[in-house]
Amino acid sequence: MKTQLVTGGAGFIGSAYVLQVRARGARVINLDKLTYSGNTKNLISLANDPEHIFIHGDIGNRELVRHLLRTYQPDAIVNFAAESHVDRSILDPDIFIKTNVLGTGVLLRQSLEFYQSLPSDKQKKFKLLHVSTDEVYGSLNEKEDAFTEENAYRPNSPYSASKASSDHLVRAFHETYGLPTLITNCSNNYGPRQFPEKLIPVIILKALQRESLPVYGNGENIRDWLHVEDHCEAIACVLEKGAPGETYNIGGRAEYRNIDVVKSICAILNELVPHSDGPYEKLITYVNDRLGHDYRYAINCTKIESQLGWKPRHTFTQGLRETIQWYLKNSAWINDVQSGSYLEYQQQNYHDRGEK
Ligand code: NAD
Ligand code: TYD
Repeated sequence: MKTQLVTGGAGFIGSAYVLQVRARGARVINLDKLTYSGNTKNLISLANDPEHIFIHGDIGNRELVRHLLRTYQPDAIVNFAAESHVDRSILDPDIFIKTNVLGTGVLLRQSLEFYQSLPSDKQKKFKLLHVSTDEVYGSLNEKEDAFTEENAYRPNSPYSASKASSDHLVRAFHETYGLPTLITNCSNNYGPRQFPEKLIPVIILKALQRESLPVYGNGENIRDWLHVEDHCEAIACVLEKGAPGETYNIGGRAEYRNIDVVKSICAILNELVPHSDGPYEKLITYVNDRLGHDYRYAINCTKIESQLGWKPRHTFTQGLRETIQWYLKNSAWINDVQSGSYLEYQQQNYHDRGEK
């Protein structure tokens, strides 16, 4: 891949992906709207890199997307751009529908026009990869088998419903027009530079600030955890070897109950930054549950492992420790993101939520 158009490349996963692509030498055109979770500081190491071209803009801007495709002639498009947080989608679903559904629709339309304008040798190599989530498959109970690519879509939150809609559009553009698309559905990511609204960075930062650690409901909900670098390697693998029209599930083979994740973070912090007021576990507070809270996500990633040869490299134990160490070393990044709309959201999601 010589040039990739990456959307949402200033966010948590997108920026990790852009850094990997640049390390492999391909040029990146990075289209990002810089919403509350987009952060150019995630890409500070590329500040003087002429092969990383950052464009501040919206995937829903038809003219801009058309212009970028014509100007830079990418060999591949990787779509990370999305509203990504379930709790925010519960507070206000509108922007999720706008960006995740309509925005993806615009990107697909323009990508198809661009693809159709290419000579056949370039068409044969072109791919559009859409990054999605396991949440489109709905919720499992303790005994059910992990999600395979054959599971029916049963999204339960406005976030997962908007991602499911975008997946359907991607599939339809392949089936109807022959656009060479790939879809990846992955589990919960963790790692450096994750915006502190998702469980792991929320708990790390609140613990360091000696605030209560909010565990929704009874803390028994289960998620599968995937290190962001493993996810980005999987995306590169699917882009290189995946068959157009196919979907690939990506997981970390690391299922844990939320309360156990929170306790593991506390245990690591007790060791790395012990506090005179006592262990961090003391701060754990059970709070009112998320509406429509999915009980369990689990991924069967046999297809990508057996067909494409990808496997996660990180164990959750080591990956979590390294992630905590990253947050301990990057207080400037933390101060930068903990302002403005972040504080407003904290008020809405936590202070107005109440304790159980
Ligand atoms: P994020 O919120 O950290 O980043 C999203 C990025 O998209 C931000 O940089 C934001 O500015 C940008 N963006 C938002 N709307 C845009 C628009 N209209 N046009 C252009 N850019 C826009 O999210 P993330 O965790 O990095 O997730 C990236 C993708 O991976 C999303 O599609 C998400 O659904 C998917 N995903 C995430 C996880 C996870 O655990 N974080 C798991 C599975 C799938
Ligand atoms: P989250 O990181 O928001 O990811 P997702 O909802 O996409 O899985 O949440 C992970 C789990 O942690 C989920 O079951 C909700 C729970 N959770 C809490 O208990 N407390 C919190 O403050 C947050 C943000 C999440």
